Amino acid sequence: MSETTEKAKSSNVVWHCPAITRELRCQLNNHNSVVLWFTGLSGSGKSTIAHGVEDQLYQRQYRTYVLDGDNVRHGLCGDLGFSNQDRQENIRRIGEVARLFVDAGMVVLTAFISPFRQDRARVREILGEGNFYEIYCRCSLEVCEERDVKGLYKKARQGLVKEFTGISSPYEAPESPELILDTDQLTIAECVEKVIALLDKTGS
Ligand code: ADX
Repeated sequence: MSETTEKAKSSNVVWHCPAITRELRCQLNNHNSVVLWFTGLSGSGKSTIAHGVEDQLYQRQYRTYVLDGDNVRHGLCGDLGFSNQDRQENIRRIGEVARLFVDAGMVVLTAFISPFRQDRARVREILGEGNFYEIYCRCSLEVCEERDVKGLYKKARQGLVKEFTGISSPYEAPESPELILDTDQLTIAECVEKVIALLDKTGS
């Protein structure tokens, strides 16, 4: 990972190289650090699966954290809406936060729609090879709409929620994710198992 990812506005800031490194923190934790980046439509199961994976990792005494779209939008990204530009900034910030978590030696699981390929590619780039696994929660719009856990699809169809992903705002499916979970065919437990298998396979 590089020391800087964006052109900084602040001048006179000097990157500090700490003695305690990511490698040392990972050694202490007894596992590697990585980002498991869940992407997919609202209602596709991102959060549920991320938390299911976290439960399993907790049993293994892994240091983990789930960053979740709805929660993060209450704080860090509370000033952002759902225009393309705001979504881009949302994902940029989450990418930077995830990068800090990886440096802290943790397994970070992110559950954001993250609808744009370019934004996800940028996060992949700042994290670097082997630090970012894109996991596509693939689920048809019909099934997500049928689930409508938060009642937002109904509101979007009524025009009460604007720029809603899948209805009035686009979703660009990943072209080569590390893992595809067909969440309208698999159980949550099966999806969790596949993610754990991916981690085991890649030695994280
Ligand atoms: S993202 O597109 O910027 O990645 P994010 O994952 O943070 O989105 O937030 C999505 C969540 O916000 C959804 O799960 C849903 O609960 C809520 N939401 C509210 N308005 C919208 C909207 N217009 N489009 C999509 N999700 C919305």
